[in-house]
Amino acid sequence: MAKLTKKDFLKNTIKHIDLKKYNVVPMVEAFEGMAYASREVARASKIYNMMLSDKNCSVILCIAGSLVSAGMKKVVVDMIQNNMVDAIVSNGANIVDQDFFEALGYKHYIGTPYNQDDNLLRDLHIDRIYDTYIDEDQLKNCDETIHKICNYLEPRPYSSREFIWEMGKWLEKNKKGKDSIVYNAYKYGVPIFVPAFSDCSAGFGFVAHQTEHPTAHVSIDSAKDFLELTKIKIKAKETGLMMWSGGVPKNFAQDTVVAAEILGAEIPMHKYAVQITVADVRDGALSGSTLKEASSWGKVSTALEQMVYGECTTLIPLIIGYGYHKGAWKKRKASNYVKFLQDEDAKIAKARKK
Ligand SMILES: NC(=O)c1ccc[n+]([C@@H]2O[C@H](COP(=O)([O-])OP(=O)(O)OC[C@H]3O[C@@H](n4cnc5c(N)ncnc54)[C@H](O)[C@@H]3O)[C@@H](O)[C@H]2O)c1
Repeated sequence: MAKLTKKDFLKNTIKHIDLKKYNVVPMVEAFEGMAYASREVARASKIYNMMLSDKNCSVILCIAGSLVSAGMKKVVVDMIQNNMVDAIVSNGANIVDQDFFEALGYKHYIGTPYNQDDNLLRDLHIDRIYDTYIDEDQLKNCDETIHKICNYLEPRPYSSREFIWEMGKWLEKNKKGKDSIVYNAYKYGVPIFVPAFSDCSAGFGFVAHQTEHPTAHVSIDSAKDFLELTKIKIKAKETGLMMWSGGVPKNFAQDTVVAAEILGAEIPMHKYAVQITVADVRDGALSGSTLKEASSWGKVSTALEQMVYGECTTLIPLIIGYGYHKGAWKKRKASNYVKFLQDEDAKIAKARKK
């Protein structure tokens, strides 16, 4: 048998779901009269719609796992473009390795987890995420682009939000990635925070940049991220969390309530919260901890919260699709928190000059 080549594996691309095409409202409403996961999905969808209908509520989307590579990119882009999200907290994988990677012109490919020869994939430079393939040589260009961006920026600490904004600016300048999360967040003023920014493709770019420039270099200030997100919480007052998977983004967003208290701000807990996850509660870890548990820490109000246990790729189109087709977003005002944070930075820069 002829030896399989890279081309044999990287043939069929992952297609991003377009939730505008499917009006899920009647089905989700039918779920209300059912049981188990269907009723959880119906309640979570209604809570998301309440976030969008509440004119005082800012929506914070938290993303962990590998969802952009799985076909969820357009859902996030539609949320940004239609004013259905005000701030994003994500892991690095979704934003850099997957979204920025596709913005550079690369794709994810349909693969299989069954009868898989991972040693052959290794030889062919193909990386696997469960049933999805990635060309590792292309991923290296993603690391390298981050390296290049670091090299031309003024050497100083940046919040990940500032750095990701620079990535959006780079895409605009290089006429790339019009359908990407990073570019649309840049264009629509939606801040993206990645609290563990080096734990992804970006880390390789930073390691190369800091080695070349040991005394003056770009670095990521994770504490500034936390302060910026806390400033958003204080400004917004009412907030709703839409959490996909769990992980660091879940805790980072939840903790802004506690940080705001430390700063002396009198602000409410997160008023609305939805989490979709396959994690369970028994291990005591963060991802599976219930939102009721979070209320014991003073982070989330217990009245309008819903855990939905299941895999995100099927549940997100239902819950976010419900919000989209109900249309409450049409009456929302854009918060443009990027501008708010840039104005805050300008005030600090002015004070420093005095
Ligand atoms: N996920 C990747 O392929 C990948 C790739 C490169 C780097 N990383 C880095 O590794 C770190 C941790 O990764 P992580 O954010 O994936 O956290 P994680 O693996 O800890 O996942 C968080 C929780 O979400 C649940 N979960 C994940 N995907 C889900 C899904 N599709 N549906 C429902 N629940 C789901 C998991 O079971 C887990 O409990 C991050 O810093 C990330 O940037 C991840």
